[in-house]
Amino acid sequence: MDAARYLVAPERWERLPADWGEVFGRKAPLAVEIGFGNGEFLAEASVREPDWNWVGFETSLTCVAKAGRKLAGAGAEHVRLALVDGRFALRELFPDESVSRVFLHFPCPWPKRSHAGRRVVEPFFVRNLAAVLVPGGRFRLVTDDLPYAEEAGEHLRAAGFRVEGPGELPDRGPGSRYEAKWRRQGRAIWGLEAVRGPKGSTLRIAEGAMPHVWIGKRVNLEDARRLVGLKEAWPGGAFVVKAVYGSPDGRVVLLRAFASDGGFEQQYFLAVVPDGEGALVKLDGATLPFRTPAVKRSVAAVGAALKAE
Ligand SMILES: C[S@@+](CC[C@H](N)C(=O)[O-])C[C@H]1O[C@@H](n2cnc3c(N)ncnc32)[C@H](O)[C@@H]1O
Repeated sequence: MDAARYLVAPERWERLPADWGEVFGRKAPLAVEIGFGNGEFLAEASVREPDWNWVGFETSLTCVAKAGRKLAGAGAEHVRLALVDGRFALRELFPDESVSRVFLHFPCPWPKRSHAGRRVVEPFFVRNLAAVLVPGGRFRLVTDDLPYAEEAGEHLRAAGFRVEGPGELPDRGPGSRYEAKWRRQGRAIWGLEAVRGPKGSTLRIAEGAMPHVWIGKRVNLEDARRLVGLKEAWPGGAFVVKAVYGSPDGRVVLLRAFASDGGFEQQYFLAVVPDGEGALVKLDGATLPFRTPAVKRSVAAVGAALKAE
């Protein structure tokens, strides 16, 4: 699979935010694209600008596979792709003042007020952007949705960015899949360029340390099954245990869990494995999540509940 050549799994990294010079094996200015779709822009830009390191984030696995093929076909080298929400990734994976350019092409507009939380450009994102961009670093938005671009411009100006646009963009060529699609339909395409002003500050919540709890006794499947529905919710997040499974020999118990940190959602498994005279509750290696507060609380709560059984 072509994408494997480009794919990275930052949820497995022990040190966050990452050292991208180490990830790429060379130091170079960093450019990030959020929601790269089928990868047309990354393929074209990374070949045109081979002296940059390019990182793309997507939430769709199909897009990752298609973009991998596109990058391989273009002979792209200095590109890494990750299947991670770009809003979370920008904040958690990049140190302050380390990214030179951020691109967002045709983000899903989510026009309904009830879906506003899914939009990429909102005040919280803009604060994080102002933290990770280098002085003078730039953010570029391209969209067919003028109200989205205008609102993005307001958020960016409020955070001290110098904003040019939105202005209508001429048709300069094939563009991305969505650009081609909207142009075929005769829609106007809008571009906005924003240059970072004062540095923003951000609060990162993920770290590499693996949470685990040792229980001074063995755990059987029946005891663990009582944990289905175990949940906690607090102002910044929540978790819930959705299901419990046992290995055929009954030695390992797996708990399927769901965690949310400020709207960043993850599904993963907790494993309860025999350890000496007792058992260890830990994150299962097959589905490692980012170690966020909600994930850590789920491990602690499962451990406490099993101890109390
Ligand atoms: C309308 S498509 C545009 C794709 C591509 N940029 C283009 O111009 O053809 C929006 C893309 O953003 C992705 N996406 C939506 N929210 C995202 C997020 N928070 N982080 C990363 N990707 C996201 C979607 O999976 C989808 O592929």
